Formats: sequence, structure tokens, C-alpha cells
Amino acid sequence: MKKIIVALDGHAGCGKSSTAKIVSKELGYVYIDTGAMYRAVTFHFLENKINLENLDDVESELAKITVGFDKNPETGAIEVTLNGERVEAHIRTMEVTNNVSNVSAIKSVRTFLVAEQQKMGIEKGIVMDGRDIGTVVFPTAELKVFMTADVEERARRRQIEMESKGLTASFEEIVENLKERDHIDSTREESPLRKADDALVLDTTNLKFDDQVKQIVDWANALI
Ligand code: C5P
Repeated sequence: MKKIIVALDGHAGCGKSSTAKIVSKELGYVYIDTGAMYRAVTFHFLENKINLENLDDVESELAKITVGFDKNPETGAIEVTLNGERVEAHIRTMEVTNNVSNVSAIKSVRTFLVAEQQKMGIEKGIVMDGRDIGTVVFPTAELKVFMTADVEERARRRQIEMESKGLTASFEEIVENLKERDHIDSTREESPLRKADDALVLDTTNLKFDDQVKQIVDWANALI
């Protein structure tokens, strides 16, 4: 059977990752969460107090790290790694979330991670989610989906997700963070978030989770 690349882009917190995870299972594909890669780099920069204004420091720090994925033997989930260590437990905090859009606006960070992402797609059969997958990482992806949803609905879902992980943040704080990230992501110079001309739009504000998964699987199956 023909293998394709499914590129899933869109606004912050509209369910891209959870949708992509199930879509990849249904298609028997590998799922790659590129947001987790930007978060892992952000976590590393925060831990090592890297000054983001100093681009030489940023570049020499990037030369020291590797970002990849590995299976968590306890849960079976595929998680992001930083220098071979799984760091999922550290990358969803408000501190990382509040800094990740500034880190991902840096050109050398994007060049570094985009090269890794392109290697992961060489054999196709992947579902990759992010902000620039259909426009920059895989501009020739067979299926491109641009996901969006009303910001308050996104915040409501994000708060439930954070609470389930034992993380706390107020509704207002989450709304502000989502708006701020969308603003930085859409207005940055380097690969801004935008819908690829040939992407299909999926507004999930009033969709049930299973229905948004089914829609993407149906689109993919029509191409395979
Ligand atoms: O997907 P997630 O919300 O975890 O992504 C975190 C941040 O990483 C985004 O707000 C964006 O700034 C950045 N990102 C990006 N390009 C990608 C994936 C994520 O700039 N392909």
C-alpha cells in the first residue's frame, strides 16, 4: 500500500497532538510531535540559562545537543528525548510553554530541528504535527490539514488536559498564553504559522474528538 506524509498544522491548543496520535494509530503510521522537539530545546535553554539574545551562544549550545524520540518502557508511549534522555515530564510546564515561542522564532533553532524532522520522513508513513510542516518541512506532503478552533474552547480543553497531568494554570492565563503564542508564531520572520495554500481546513470548535480523527483518516484513506 502506498505510504504518504500527513502534515498537520494549526493554532496552539486545538488538539493537533492528541488527534495526530490517534490518526497515526489508525493508519499504522509513525507519529511525530514537532512541538515537543521545540519544547525540549526550550527546556534545555532554560535549564542552562542560555541568553536567547546571544545567537552565538544559542548556536554553540545547539551543537551540543541531540533531540529525538524513544519509547517509554512503562507506558509504551513514544516520548521526546534530549541527549538520549526522555524529557516529557519537563516540557509541558507553564515555564516552558511561556518561552517556547520565543525559542522557536530563532532561525538556527528551526534549521537544526527541521533537518531532524525531514530525516524522520524519508520513508513516509508519518503523521507530523506542528506549525510549518505543510509549508516548510514537507511542502510536498500528500495530505496537509490546517486545524483551528475558537480560543476559549481551546483553553477549556487545555485546562482539562493540564489538570489530568497534575499541572495548574488559571483559565485566563491559558487564554493569554494561547493568544500570545499564536501571535508570535504567526508574525515571526522565520517560517511563520500559516495555512499552506493546498491545506484542508478543519475547525474543531464544535467537533467531537472522534469525528475530527475520522475526518482526517478519511482524507488520508482517499489518497492511499
Ligand atoms: O505543538 P505545541 O503547542 O506543543 O508547540 C509548542 C510551540 O512550539 C508552538 O507554540 C510554536 O511556537 C513552536 N512550534 C513551532 N514549529 C513547529 C512546532 C512547534 O514553531 N513545527
